[in-house]
Amino acid sequence: MADYDVIVIGSGPGGYVCAIRCAQLGLKTACVEGRETLGGTCLNIGCIPSKALLHASHQLHEAEHNFEKMGLKVAAPKVDWKAMLAYKDDVIGQNTKGIEFLFKKNKIDWLKGWGAIPEAGKVKVGDDVHSAKHVVIASGSEPSSLPGIEIDEETVVTSTGALELGKIPKKLVVIGAGVIGLELGSVYARLGAEVTVIEYLDGITPGMDAEVAKQFQKILSKQGLKFVLGAAVQGVETLKTKAKVTYKLRKDDSEHTIDADTVLVSTGRRPFTDGLGLADLGVKMTDRGQIETDGHYATSVKGVYAIGDAIAGPMLAHKAEDEGMAVAEILAGQAGHVNYDVIPGVIYTHPEVASVGKTEEQLKEAGHAYKAGKFSFMGNGRAKANFAADGFVKILADSKTDRVLGAHIIGPMAGDLIHEICVAMEFGAAAEDIARTCHAHPTYSEAVREAALACGDGPIHS
Ligand code: NAI
Repeated sequence: MADYDVIVIGSGPGGYVCAIRCAQLGLKTACVEGRETLGGTCLNIGCIPSKALLHASHQLHEAEHNFEKMGLKVAAPKVDWKAMLAYKDDVIGQNTKGIEFLFKKNKIDWLKGWGAIPEAGKVKVGDDVHSAKHVVIASGSEPSSLPGIEIDEETVVTSTGALELGKIPKKLVVIGAGVIGLELGSVYARLGAEVTVIEYLDGITPGMDAEVAKQFQKILSKQGLKFVLGAAVQGVETLKTKAKVTYKLRKDDSEHTIDADTVLVSTGRRPFTDGLGLADLGVKMTDRGQIETDGHYATSVKGVYAIGDAIAGPMLAHKAEDEGMAVAEILAGQAGHVNYDVIPGVIYTHPEVASVGKTEEQLKEAGHAYKAGKFSFMGNGRAKANFAADGFVKILADSKTDRVLGAHIIGPMAGDLIHEICVAMEFGAAAEDIARTCHAHPTYSEAVREAALACGDGPIHS
């Protein structure tokens, strides 16, 4: 008899959620994790610590820019960087310990160490070999750098080093205007750094609804971020504690350099599968280095499954979580399923940016007739009261059936507001269904309703 029904390799949001769901469904479960703490990239060096720094630096912004407008007189706030990092570490600790508690509660064994799969049904951790009916790989991803750039995590950093810099840089150069670059760029801009973002493409956040991306860039520029677009970074030269970044403008091939105290390389991530022994095991990989899986997360080797950043699809914690639950249900004989058409994406800057479903660009390309209902937060009383009226909600609906096809929000709490639309899309709702639903006043969510009204007879407050 096998030691376990399921061994999950990796305890990030994909792995730990999978392990908990397996245990809840009555499967004897273990989870392998080599880090000192559970939670993977997200809890230790990703989503959670970056949100702590975003929150703290946003409070600083409020104190510096909005307190006086509300009649609050305080001495100019000072940043104690070490204390801010300690706050961030405390948040990490609370969250990672929370997962440890959940493992104990659900009787999941934590196999401490880095796992390998010597053969199907076996997982080696250190000198011990454990047997399992099913093995789920949830090994996540790691930052991918560019040729000619050496990461030292001090002067030239990935998101990992950027979350614990020795000091706040005077000049920060960010390579890549994607999610990580803009979130962490915002943090350091608010903390007083001069931030320049160099992006290969002609716009920021590729793939995002173009109207939102344009507005987003305008807002970030107003906050002090500088953008160099259409620029291919050639290399980074490190000089003791400083760096020189060289880039070529694509329009005329001209070469430029820019100095920095710190360079953040945020040009994407790649699947992390090192040390698992997948090549010897015969697990098929895609040409992008992802583990190939079928519709049920099964790899080419019987009994071995994979989920999260290590397989195809957006590298998002919540996508991994959903896959973790789905594969657990499949292994327990149920019908686990993920609806990839309704996976929200959020950027946690201020204002936040959130989207779900199709963009206007995708609908145009597919020749899908649609209508767009838009509402500015300028017409939302709550947003005006809170100095948060920058941005808008846009709902895209089928021009004949009124069915919601996508939504794009830039504005306060966009990352929370988007879920009303996710639920609507899961239920195949029409924009009119959202418009006819009573929304509490005064809330930001009224802007969602107004955008839905804009798909029909028109919003009230614009
Ligand atoms: P990304 O894929 O979001 O953006 C990378 C950017 O770098 C792109 O705009 C790309 O055009 C640019 N780039 C690539 N090569 C370049 C070059 N040579 N010179 C200049 N620019 C170049 O990658 P990012 O921000 O590193 O994030 C990695 C992953 O982590 C993403 O899949 C992201 O979704 C995920 N993530 C999600 C978060 C969230 O949901 N809030 C937060 C942080 C990360």
